[in-house]
Amino acid sequence: MDYLEITGGQALAGKVKISGAKNAALPILASALLCENLLKISNLPDVADVKTLAKLLEHLGSEIEWTSPNEMLICSSRIIHTKAIYDIVRKMRASILVLGPLLARFGKCEVSLPGGCAIGARPVDLHIKAMEKMGAEITIEGGYIVARAPRGLKGSDIIFDKITVTGTENVLMAAALAKGETKIINAAKEPEVIQLCEVLKQAGVEITGIGSNELCVRGSDGVLLRSEPICVIPDRIEAGTYLCAGAITNSHISLQGVIPTHLEAISSKLQEIGFHIHTQGDMLEIFPANKRKAFEIITTEYPGFPTDLQAQFMALATQCEGSSTIEERLFENRFMHVSELQRLGADISLRGNVAKITGREKLFGADVMATDLRASSALVLAGLVATGQTQIHRIYHLDRGYERLEEKFCALGAQIKRLREK
Ligand code: UD1
Repeated sequence: MDYLEITGGQALAGKVKISGAKNAALPILASALLCENLLKISNLPDVADVKTLAKLLEHLGSEIEWTSPNEMLICSSRIIHTKAIYDIVRKMRASILVLGPLLARFGKCEVSLPGGCAIGARPVDLHIKAMEKMGAEITIEGGYIVARAPRGLKGSDIIFDKITVTGTENVLMAAALAKGETKIINAAKEPEVIQLCEVLKQAGVEITGIGSNELCVRGSDGVLLRSEPICVIPDRIEAGTYLCAGAITNSHISLQGVIPTHLEAISSKLQEIGFHIHTQGDMLEIFPANKRKAFEIITTEYPGFPTDLQAQFMALATQCEGSSTIEERLFENRFMHVSELQRLGADISLRGNVAKITGREKLFGADVMATDLRASSALVLAGLVATGQTQIHRIYHLDRGYERLEEKFCALGAQIKRLREK
């Protein structure tokens, strides 16, 4: 197993190219199950989660050719299995994204229940309820969601009790091949959901309300789609992580290849803290602050502040003057990074889902453990400013979602080495 060794205290400078969004790539890959043609997907991030889903699709019968580390050709015309096995699903919860497409196309499927994860219970009850509303019979057998819809799925009104990103994506894909019209009320409107809508639309599916919380999809009644080449949108969470790196080291860096409007909640929080942000086309720059003020964050659905950047901003709060508060509203257990940041000397107290961080404490390098994807990147950020060396263990979490992380950071002037555990 690999670990990262970071020598803190270096200022950063320069440009970093942002990769394609993992959370947009995953539903796009799953949507290939709805298509009869050979599909080209480019700007895929070269990360473990994308490989895991590609492996699952290959196991189902999709033919995949990687034409470069960031581009694939995929053809799902000859699917031979409809069972998403535990061995692959357990590696990545987002494997649940094959439920809607498989069920809509074949009228049956089995998808392993993803199980627990470090950031909370994360049930899939809303996905299951929605498929039932569309006419599926669902049972849980031997750890699998066993879904049957022998007469196909039928359009229906789906009202989500809670906004769910992958839940909305699953219903969108199921509705694309269903019979009649599906309304999704209280839909997620993250940019990644919007890209999936656009991909389906360009493949011939009638969708209205794109970008709003009420989507209306007219299904093809089982007729497979023909998709055009797709270029995955840039990763706003990776971009936010690098902005935090500029902020925590109080450096001037620029991000290339972003969509600045996707980053508005993040840019405006950084401006509130004291940073100057400049955008031009697909470039976004952060300039050092004279004084970094304490801040408050409440995580919420897009366009609000993303839960996927909560941990990184907590690392940043350790360097701001005064007490910052961060309230986590989406996942009940997403504070695993707190005890690891405390090992580096951070002053953080937790009360329920609210963390209070008292800044201007000096951080000191130590051995720490990555617990989930975004928590791990917060530890990298803290390591950049900690005195001495920080060793981050279990970095396979980072490899799930950050492409060439140490290479990108080193190009900005950080000192990060990937080493092998003895
Ligand atoms: C997606 C993102 C993840 C991000 C999260 C919230 C992907 C691949 N992952 O995860 O990076 O952190 O959105 O922005 O896009 N819920 C239920 N029942 C369900 C489904 C969800 O109770 O059936 C709850 C969850 O526990 C959570 C909330 O709804 O409290 C939102 O979760 P959801 O939007 O579904 O997260 P994911 O789609 O899994």
